[in-house]
Amino acid sequence: MTIQLQNLPYAENALAPVISEKTVEFHYHKHHAGYVQKTNELIYNTDLENKSLEEIILTTANNSTYQTLFNNAAQAWNHQFYWQSLKPYAETSVVPEKLKMLIERDFGTVEALKNQLQAKGLAQFGSGWVWLVTENDKLSVLSSSNAQTPLTNKAQKPLLTIDVWEHAYYLDCQNNRAAYLQNVINHLLNWEFAAQNLTGE
Ligand SMILES: [Fe+2]
Repeated sequence: MTIQLQNLPYAENALAPVISEKTVEFHYHKHHAGYVQKTNELIYNTDLENKSLEEIILTTANNSTYQTLFNNAAQAWNHQFYWQSLKPYAETSVVPEKLKMLIERDFGTVEALKNQLQAKGLAQFGSGWVWLVTENDKLSVLSSSNAQTPLTNKAQKPLLTIDVWEHAYYLDCQNNRAAYLQNVINHLLNWEFAAQNLTGE
């Protein structure tokens, strides 16, 4: 068994003008595909060869022997989750009612959650990710460095993520991560995907 590069859930130009087709082309076909390919190279002919991507990540996390494999496998998973966390460009978006109620319970307003995603995504020093997760039955926003993923923390369940590595926005926004985050948060986030992860449906 090899780890597969999952198809994008939309056309490569569907995220424009926030994320251009050119960025998707490089991000998906070069960066994401590269992590998948490297993972497959590193598990070839090893005990991990027939494991799922999730099992590989959990087995290799916090183990310096497997640092390179963890980094590539976690990046493969994080990117898969990122593409699903986005949907084709829309001027406005509606948060499903059940998720909206939980957001209002834990953040006050959807706007306040968006502000936290923006602030934590911006504050992440260097490469990484910003996540909406559930932890102890409460929603929270956190950021992770490089390939780190909440998947390795049993208490946390990821609902959606935004890639804040420079390769996610440099062609479109150069160094302006704030503009990238703001436009992704306002026009591309797939709240239905987050709601599905909440209920596990
Ligand atoms: Fe990326």
